[in-house]
Amino acid sequence: MSRDYWEHRYQAADMPWEKGAPSPGLVDFLAANPQLKRGTVCVPGCGSGHDVRAFAQAGFDAFGFDLAPSAIASAEAKTKAAGLAATFALTDFLREEPPQKFDWLFEHTLFCAIQPTERDEYVRAVLKWLKPGGNYLAVNYFLTDPDGPPFPTTRDEQLERFSPHFELLSEWTPRSYPNRTGLERMFHWRRKAV
Ligand SMILES: C[S@@+](CC[C@H](N)C(=O)[O-])C[C@H]1O[C@@H](n2cnc3c(N)ncnc32)[C@H](O)[C@@H]1O
Repeated sequence: MSRDYWEHRYQAADMPWEKGAPSPGLVDFLAANPQLKRGTVCVPGCGSGHDVRAFAQAGFDAFGFDLAPSAIASAEAKTKAAGLAATFALTDFLREEPPQKFDWLFEHTLFCAIQPTERDEYVRAVLKWLKPGGNYLAVNYFLTDPDGPPFPTTRDEQLERFSPHFELLSEWTPRSYPNRTGLERMFHWRRKAV
């Protein structure tokens, strides 16, 4: 999907993914793991930045990237209004070079938003943006309607795509927004050292 496609969705306020709050699964993960080493975190396809602010609030040096100018403008305004510090940039996560390598990368409704034909590129981008030994934390959406976005994925696909490059530390069914209950699964991966 092009930059124009996503920008148009924001300008038309056609944003069913916008829940006004971070992923419940992320909120619970951060609350349950205060001992985990902080550092830099990259949130690609960050939308209006709720997840970025959750990481910032939990002590991470948080960065959000998105293709749509309106998403970045909204994320910056909401972060300023919340009195939090985070960095946002207009970036194509699949095609542009990362400004730096990150300690953490958080996936939430970007993998299912891109064209399924771009998924090899997505894995390559994660490898480009994340440090060896870095943490890839994903909330994957297991819906089944093939007419996306969002496009479906499965646990098997996630294991097949990420196992060659990552060690799976844990996986679980998270608490979800009400309309996604039972349709999400979280995976905490550590990138293999190269
Ligand atoms: C379904 S929305 C999810 C937004 C946010 N993650 C959330 O859950 O609220 C997908 C987001 O990914 C962005 N996006 C799509 N393709 C992208 C790409 N190649 N690089 C960066 N952002 C992208 C869109 O502009 C949109 O904001």
